[in-house]
Amino acid sequence: MPKLTDPIALGAIHAPNRMLMAPLTRGRADTHAVPTPIMIDYYRQRATAGLIISEATGISRIGLGWPYAPGLWSDAQVAGWRPVTAAVHEAGGRIVAQLWHMGRLVHPDVGGGQPVSSTDRAAPGDAHVYGGKKPYVAPRALLAEEVPALLDDYARAADNALAAGFDGVQLHAANGYLIDQFLRDNTNDRTDGYGGSIDNRVRLLGEVSDRLVATIGADRVGVRLSPNGETQGVNDSDPHALFTAAARRLEEAGVAWLELREPEPGSNFGKPDVAPVHPAIRAAFSRPLVLNSDYDAAKGQATLDAGEADAIAFGRPFIANPDLVRRYTEGAPLNEPNPRTFYTQGTEGYTDYPALEAA
Ligand SMILES: Cc1cc2nc3c(=O)[nH]c(=O)nc-3n(C[C@H](O)[C@H](O)[C@H](O)COP(=O)(O)O)c2cc1C
Repeated sequence: MPKLTDPIALGAIHAPNRMLMAPLTRGRADTHAVPTPIMIDYYRQRATAGLIISEATGISRIGLGWPYAPGLWSDAQVAGWRPVTAAVHEAGGRIVAQLWHMGRLVHPDVGGGQPVSSTDRAAPGDAHVYGGKKPYVAPRALLAEEVPALLDDYARAADNALAAGFDGVQLHAANGYLIDQFLRDNTNDRTDGYGGSIDNRVRLLGEVSDRLVATIGADRVGVRLSPNGETQGVNDSDPHALFTAAARRLEEAGVAWLELREPEPGSNFGKPDVAPVHPAIRAAFSRPLVLNSDYDAAKGQATLDAGEADAIAFGRPFIANPDLVRRYTEGAPLNEPNPRTFYTQGTEGYTDYPALEAA
């Protein structure tokens, strides 16, 4: 069985180790969703990850509702990303862009208009807006005739990702955002070809994946799902059947790798009431499977030893430890992440976590 320190091919991407950096929204772009110079330092510091999955990055203005999150729909955003990806490459690393449409979790104050979703029902709770939070608004149910334009937005973002120097993309189909809203039966109340049966609810995920594959090639496309349990207002009555079908559809689309965020009961990032679906997904998807949530080096290695996954993505440990790969490899102590500065602007709690002294 492989070690976390062994290389792995994720499609066209040759990762020198199996310790991936999970996607982490940090809110350090500007109000036009253009990356800022401090993001260059942040990602460069983490270039020893087997692969960096970028923070979630908006594919369109209406799809982006997180204050100070970056985008990939404008030329200015592409230009802002170029020095980031160049710095990662110069430091010997690899980086893919996580492509994000937040659906009904976008507030008009940030997205500039009424959000779209699988449904016209508002999400429970509050949206992040500049300067605080406001209750989620009722979205408009996307019309089936509008899907081609949505696919165009994904394709443009994927083209822009390569133009910006990314090594590929990860489709964000997790965590209660647009594609997850279509997948799950508590947020998909449609009566058209995108609602009802599992095949219909998986349709949008499949079409977006097919389009990304057609646009930049299957070997540059990965996907993230969060199969087990409620997240940000989405839930499903039969997650096992749904997400196994989703994995089969991704197998058919040919995407190069699949990442799952599956917190265990008792996790401090989501408290699912559903057992992990990854054993069934492993059987349905033949290419590399990456697991995430609440791993450390020992648990990650045990998971590889058990044959349950091919690589592990680490989130919060990478926030606090730019040299996490070295620390895990040497068994060195870790810095603790400070949640107070997860989404604040500026360098504090962003680029000032110390690395170990040079060996
Ligand atoms: C500050 C923060 C930002 C996050 N942003 C994203 C994101 O942009 N996209 C995403 O898919 N998940 C995001 N997540 C979830 C992480 O990728 C990961 O699933 C979670 O932190 C659990 O993994 P960990 O236990 O290794 O931290 C975020 C988590 C945190 C703590």
